[in-house]
This record gives sequence, structure tokens and C-alpha cells, in this order.
Amino acid sequence: MRIVITGGAGFIGSNTAAHFLAEGHEIIVIDDLSRPGSEVNLAWLFEMDPNLAFYQIDMRDYAALRQALDKVKPIDILFHFAAQVAVTTSVSDPRLDFSVNALGTFNVLEAVRTLNLDPVILFTSTNKVYGALESIVVIEDETRYRYRDLEKGVPETTPLDFYSPYGCSKGAADQYVHDYGRIYGLKTIVFRNSCIYGPRQFGVEDQGWLAWFIIAALKGRDITIYGNGKQVRDILHVSDLIRAMAAACRQEAAYGGIFNMGGGPQNSISVWTEFSPILEKLLGRKLDISRASWRPGDQNIYISDTTKARQVLEWKPKFSVRDGIQDLFQWVSSNLEIIG
Ligand SMILES: NC(=O)c1ccc[n+]([C@@H]2O[C@H](COP(=O)([O-])OP(=O)(O)OC[C@H]3O[C@@H](n4cnc5c(N)ncnc54)[C@H](O)[C@@H]3O)[C@@H](O)[C@H]2O)c1
Repeated sequence: MRIVITGGAGFIGSNTAAHFLAEGHEIIVIDDLSRPGSEVNLAWLFEMDPNLAFYQIDMRDYAALRQALDKVKPIDILFHFAAQVAVTTSVSDPRLDFSVNALGTFNVLEAVRTLNLDPVILFTSTNKVYGALESIVVIEDETRYRYRDLEKGVPETTPLDFYSPYGCSKGAADQYVHDYGRIYGLKTIVFRNSCIYGPRQFGVEDQGWLAWFIIAALKGRDITIYGNGKQVRDILHVSDLIRAMAAACRQEAAYGGIFNMGGGPQNSISVWTEFSPILEKLLGRKLDISRASWRPGDQNIYISDTTKARQVLEWKPKFSVRDGIQDLFQWVSSNLEIIG
């Protein structure tokens, strides 16, 4: 297959490219290399395949994007991952966020539509499209928050309530992708991801929290916990995400679909109260941290209900929380020199 990956030098993108390269497919990476660490990921991909096709294009540049897609057609799968990914950046520069995420996605769809291309288009949206979920009752336990009634987590039927400029730009993109499937018959799939983690994630404080904590701990950087540390997230190892994406692309039943994607209740953890004992054990020492008040818009709990993905894609995560964290810890430990 010929597979285009926008954001292919990023965390999810480079892992996806490596997965499909290993299976013998032809990969075309499109990325503007704006994310710190993306050059390192790209060099790693070139080591794997010196003939890898790479286009350094900003998603906002419609003419360049369209020309590249025209040149590389026919395309079997188009993974659209390129994005401005930090909520904090979206608040400080909402125009940048909108133009990269909303307009950039629209550019992908319009290029595909006007060039009469027919790839499967898989777009990585976010759980932020569901907003603060204030009507869901949350209980505070000793080490974590939990939903009182949503035993399986948050399903796709939850009303949309875009929160933060990032939520708005990704939410607009999510709806455009879905609608281009309906109106123009494109083979679109939307994954609403929660926390994805794993090797090649150059986590920063504002995005990629698991990787950020591990990097900070191993590099001796200051760690600040916002709120009480009992915030809960479901976490999914990137290799499990890739298996789900590959399954979705193979199955016509997934086209036009929207899937909540994450570790689900079995793979959830509180960001400090439950995570720090695992991290400290791996490190072999206690960590000093500072505390600060809650960050605006921070959800006290988010867990995806992945029932639909499990059923339609016949998929389930393989990595447990502990094994996955250990895998990321090992990757960070042995790659400290390439992590800025
Ligand atoms: N990692 C997660 O936990 C998570 C959760 C929810 C959704 N997502 C979504 O998954 C996708 C990939 O996320 P990631 O964690 O791999 O992020 P990442 O930052 O590692 O990768 C994004 C890539 O896009 C590139 N990029 C940014 N702006 C661009 C532009 N204007 N033009 C071209 N390329 C550009 C960056 O250089 C980077 O290589 C994003 O769409 C993100 O919103 C990720």
C-alpha cells in the first residue's frame, strides 16, 4: 500500500510510519518539522528506509499540500496527524491553533476531494471535543476520581461541547472529516484519542504528560503537580493505537465511523497519586515535587468507553498500565541524549 502520513515525524506519526514500513508498505511523510524532536524521529525513519519520501510542508499551505498529494497519488491510506497539539498554545495563540488544526484539516479534505483521490482517511481527534463533562457525577476516592455512573467510561454518544481553542479547532476538524465522509463519500474515520504514550514521545509539560514526567524525573528537572494529583486518565500505548488504526483502515464497517480511543477503565491511572509509586520504583528513589493550583479546563477525570472500537474493530489493548510505563521508561532511559 502507499500510505501518506501528515505529522509523520511526530510521536504517533513516526511510530505509525515505522510500523507500516516494517510491513513493507510505501510511506510518504508530510511534516513541517515544527515540533521539537521531529527531526530526530525523521532521521530514525530514514535509517529504516533511505528511500522514504518526505515533504516538508506546512498544512496551512494548501497549494503545496495539494501538489504533493497529486504527485504521490494513488494513495491507499492517508493518516492525518499533523496538528498544533497543546491546549496551552491554543489559548496563547488561537489563530495559529485554528489555522493549523481546522484549516489544515480542511486543506487535506479539499485536496483529496478536488483531486478525486480515494484513500481511507484516518484523523486523530481528541476527547477534548466532549468538554468539561460537568453533568457527569464524579466521586473523589483516596487515590483517584471515578465516575459514579459511567462504569465503561465516556461513549461516542456524549454531546459535543468544544472546550478551549484546541478543543474547538480539533472539534471543527473532527466534524469536517466526518461530514466529508457523508456528503462526498470519502472513506473517513475519526479516532477521538485520550492519552497516547510510548517511545519517541518528546513529551513537554503541556502535552504528553506521562513522557514529560519520566523525562523530567530522569533529567532531574522540576516537577509541578497541578491540582491534587488524583486526576484520572485512561492511557493507551502507541502500539495498541496503531493496531486499532490498522484494523479500522482494513474494515469497510469502520468507514464513516467515529471511535473513542484509549485504554478504557482497565488502563486508567491517576496522574500523580497512582503514577508516582510506579515511577519511583522504576527510578529507585523518591521524587521531590512542587504543587500548584488546578490548570484552567483540566478535567478531574476522563476515561474513554472503547466498547464500539472493541466490537467493530475486534481490537483490545495489549499493554497493561505497568508494562506500558516500563516500556516508555526504558526508551527514555536509553535515549536521554536525543531528548532535549
Ligand atoms: N498524543 C496524544 O496523547 C494525543 C491525544 C489526542 C489526540 N492526539 C492527536 O494525534 C495527532 C498526533 O499527535 P502526536 O502526539 O503525535 O503529536 P506530535 O506533536 O508529536 O506530532 C505532530 C506532528 O505534526 C507536525 N506539525 C505541527 N504543525 C504542523 C503544520 N502546520 N504543518 C505540518 N506539520 C505540522 C509536527 O512537526 C509534529 O511532527 C495530533 O493530531 C493530535 O492532536 C494526540
